[in-house]
Amino acid sequence: MLAQAKRLREDVDRVVILGIGGSYLAARVLFDALRSTYHNELPPEARMGVPRVYFEGNNVDNDSFQDLLDLLQTTCVDPELRDERWGVIVISKSGATLETAAAFRVLRREAAEYYGSDPERLRRWIIPVTGAAGSFRELCKAERYDDGDILTIPDDVGGRYSVFTPVGLLPAAVMGLDVRALLLGAAVMTKRFLEEPFERNPVLQYAGVNYLLAEEFSKPTRVLCIWSKKLEAIGLWYDQLLAESLGKQGRGPMPLTTVGTRDLHSRGQQHQEGTRDKIINNLVLKVPRHNPIAIGMADRNEDDLNALSRKTLPDLLNAALQGTNQAYREAARPTADLIVPTLSEHTLGQLLQMLMLATVVEGRLMGINPYGQPGVEGYKRHMSTALKG
Ligand code: PA5
Repeated sequence: MLAQAKRLREDVDRVVILGIGGSYLAARVLFDALRSTYHNELPPEARMGVPRVYFEGNNVDNDSFQDLLDLLQTTCVDPELRDERWGVIVISKSGATLETAAAFRVLRREAAEYYGSDPERLRRWIIPVTGAAGSFRELCKAERYDDGDILTIPDDVGGRYSVFTPVGLLPAAVMGLDVRALLLGAAVMTKRFLEEPFERNPVLQYAGVNYLLAEEFSKPTRVLCIWSKKLEAIGLWYDQLLAESLGKQGRGPMPLTTVGTRDLHSRGQQHQEGTRDKIINNLVLKVPRHNPIAIGMADRNEDDLNALSRKTLPDLLNAALQGTNQAYREAARPTADLIVPTLSEHTLGQLLQMLMLATVVEGRLMGINPYGQPGVEGYKRHMSTALKG
């Protein structure tokens, strides 16, 4: 897998990652959290050889897909130049997911037009990640991929639990991330979960608090309030993890992601004074990656900010967090804080593993099987019928 990632990084300047749900969201988390917010806009030297990354196949939205095709067509005109080549990672465990399959068919056609019909080049720059069996694997075999070049998602790992398989690790490696540190972080969290007593066990604490609040204190709405724009995609990922794992048998918490301070100016009112059906889990990044930006002195002080000149953006964020928690406490609105020390592969490995383990523990406490998502099949069936009609 690392060799394939290296080859893609060396050969192309843009990588489109196709996949949906569990076959997409973890890669998005890692990209958003650990690469520059403006990664794709940076010149190649500043990206240190890491290709630009795009996510598609997670919808069937005509216009955004056309925007991507237009981008590829206008920026890539000479396939002999590395900087004008693009590749694809296509991820689908079942191979039967229409969104991803349709996007792949279109992009494969586009690639054949761009690179010519040399199958060797197409196999080199289109990397499939799929289950041990299924229609997508059959398609790859028909395209004469070597077995070793099709990365396999183990049978017993469901989509939303698959970040530490090639589903998350191949994109991470292409993004130039340290996949070993990610795995080590996950292993550290597993060890803590298995060995530490409740007082030092973040998995059991998180699962216990949230389970009790939801089931015993009628707080079915589970807010993940993320105090870092860089971590917003964790909310998308956790929405899926929680909803697909525990939303069964007419039960299960309702996930809701907010970002502090942005959403204090939208949902904040409802959290402070609205229905008393929520627990708010603050996801707090303790130390930002970059040096704190100071407000600083200015000649004109109509905005009154000179009094805060020595304060930094992290100071403002911390004050907002403290103020919000205090206001919630005064209104008897329950909160819990999850502290991420800093943004790194190691801490993200821990965090993702912690939330996956906690979801499974919570499922067991509720008597709900956290694996499988039979409810999602309903729309697929009807969609298929509608298409055949
Ligand atoms: O968690 C899950 O299993 C789902 O969200 C799947 O990841 C999603 O439906 C995509 O499935 P597939 O990888 O088979 O295309």
